[in-house]
Amino acid sequence: MSAAGGEQPGRLLCRLADIPDPGSRGFELESGAIFLVRRGAVLAAYVNSCPHTGGPLDWVEDQFLDLERRRILCATHGALFRLEDGHCLAGPCKGKGLAPVAITVTEGEVRLAPTKP
Ligand code: FES
Repeated sequence: MSAAGGEQPGRLLCRLADIPDPGSRGFELESGAIFLVRRGAVLAAYVNSCPHTGGPLDWVEDQFLDLERRRILCATHGALFRLEDGHCLAGPCKGKGLAPVAITVTEGEVRLAPTKP
């Protein structure tokens, strides 16, 4: 449902069609770097900070997936994470997880979920 004036609540990140399927895209926000991952019905966003060292996961712009594009890959030491929930399956931070970012998709637009007052 639209907010007053036809504007959707929450900051616009991009259009869903702007993210390859499967694929990923990074964003630099005032609050820090985040990224979106998409594969089939899965669309998720995470803070771009590896639980191993806290550094960014990508070393090529917008590339956050492994070669098979089935897992999120940290390019620094090769940790692999599930797309669905950011859980680390392998690597030096196995068992830890990426910090999720709440998003919404409305009318083909991907937005940060509005923060509650
Ligand atoms: S910084 Fe990500 S695996 Fe080491």
